[in-house]
Amino acid sequence: MSQHDKPAGKKSEGWEPKIVAIVCNWCTYAGADLAGISRIQYPPNVRIIRVPCTGRINPFYVVKALQAGADGVLVSGCHPGECHYISGNLSARRKFATLKSFLNYIGLEDGRTTFTWVSASEGDRFAQIVKGVTERVRALGPATKLVKKLRDADVAVAK
Ligand code: FES
Repeated sequence: MSQHDKPAGKKSEGWEPKIVAIVCNWCTYAGADLAGISRIQYPPNVRIIRVPCTGRINPFYVVKALQAGADGVLVSGCHPGECHYISGNLSARRKFATLKSFLNYIGLEDGRTTFTWVSASEGDRFAQIVKGVTERVRALGPATKLVKKLRDADVAVAK
């Protein structure tokens, strides 16, 4: 039995959450870089995907990450008023709010997805956010809902 065959919340020994962070190049990625350069400690559970702007993130990217086995997803961009593409971050916030409602509706726990802002000068804030997200997702246990539903759908199609 693999880790993803177990119901959500059932953690195996030594289990660590996998968190996908989709971040904008201009602010949050630079903030993460600053955290690294400054040697600020934060959990190594995050896999960063850099995009030009959070406004470019299709909500399906978040769903796809969860389907592919991520236990949590963090989306982070420039603070309001600082987006390099004027309002991409505000557009992203609207899309993410709708996505979060949808994910809650289908039963995904609230703490698995996070939307936030981190500027290029906020390495410490980036580290604190990663710590918070990792603790929340660790407490929830492995995410299996979307993965399991996909497997059920595959079985139904195969019959
Ligand atoms: Fe950073 Fe738009 S450029 S969110």
